[in-house]
Amino acid sequence: MVAALFGCWFRVGGARSALVGPVIPVGRTVVQISMSRSQVVLLGLGLLLILLLYVGLPGPPEQTSWLWGDTNVTILAGLTPGNCPIFYREVLPLPQARRVEVVLLHGKAFNSHTWEQLGTLQLLSQRGYRAVAIDLPGFGNSAPSEETRTEAGRAELLQRVLRDLKVHNAVLVSPSLSGHYALPFLMRDHQQLHGFVPIAPTSTQNYTQEQYWAVKTPTLILYGELDHILARESLRQLRHLPNHSVVKLRNAGHACYLHKPQDFHLVLLAFLDHLP
Ligand SMILES: *[C@@H]1O[C@H](CO)[C@@H](O)[C@H](O)[C@H]1NC(C)=O
Ligand SMILES: *[C@@H]1O[C@H](CO)[C@@H](O)[C@H](O)[C@H]1NC(C)=O
Ligand SMILES: *[C@@H]1O[C@H](CO)[C@@H](O)[C@H](O)[C@H]1NC(C)=O
Repeated sequence: MVAALFGCWFRVGGARSALVGPVIPVGRTVVQISMSRSQVVLLGLGLLLILLLYVGLPGPPEQTSWLWGDTNVTILAGLTPGNCPIFYREVLPLPQARRVEVVLLHGKAFNSHTWEQLGTLQLLSQRGYRAVAIDLPGFGNSAPSEETRTEAGRAELLQRVLRDLKVHNAVLVSPSLSGHYALPFLMRDHQQLHGFVPIAPTSTQNYTQEQYWAVKTPTLILYGELDHILARESLRQLRHLPNHSVVKLRNAGHACYLHKPQDFHLVLLAFLDHLP
């Protein structure tokens, strides 16, 4: 149930989508097929499986509510409009809204759901921040896209997501693989970012010192003490950003936000609360 559409892959997930399957002639048409009994049984099982998949596949959830401490936080979910839709989860600020909005990307083994499971979305909402977590193309509920093959395409994709979701004062949180998206975007469109939180991102070695010096965005460089490869390599490059601070999370590995969620949340909130 996958069809190419305008250069991006569109995955049909909802129960209302058309079933593309074998057409079985009915009525007077006589079809001569010779099949052994076991082939018939296999075909029957195959059709049953298709039917189960068709009926049983859940569409994306529209909203989930969490009792978080003593508040009820609702997480909205949806797809951005247009040809290559991006799936997102969003929370609105519960108390008085803060000015900045947090955009959460994800690493290779994760997706937007990670930030819900970790409670990051709920916490940000409770602390007055609008936050949006997206599934990068090819992850979670977002279909793969041809556009992501080039650096410009990836920066453009983030740009479009921010525009479609009307995020005007973005702080971009970018762990690991998502550096692929965040770094080209930072280099090109840093004027649009109110803050940047790289967590051992990829692609940092792709830019020159001069390019880093030009980026004035306040940056919080976060990494896990036990991450010996990507964290060190990215830190060496990210240190060229003129307005940065560095926080190392103790006893945490590459996905340090998973290993030490409380420390991660404290450090993130402290950074957000002090942004101008
Ligand atoms: C939380 O809020 C949602 C939407 O307002 C509501 O449907 C849900 O029942 C509430 N849940 C609790 C536990 O209060
Ligand atoms: C690194 O830079 C080159 C040349 O600018 C580009 O073609 C390539 O896609 C970049 N790689 C990443 C991972 O961004
Ligand atoms: C550097 O970033 C901090 C927030 O982390 C901000 O308060 C400060 O104004 C920034 N400094 C400059 C020179 O932009």
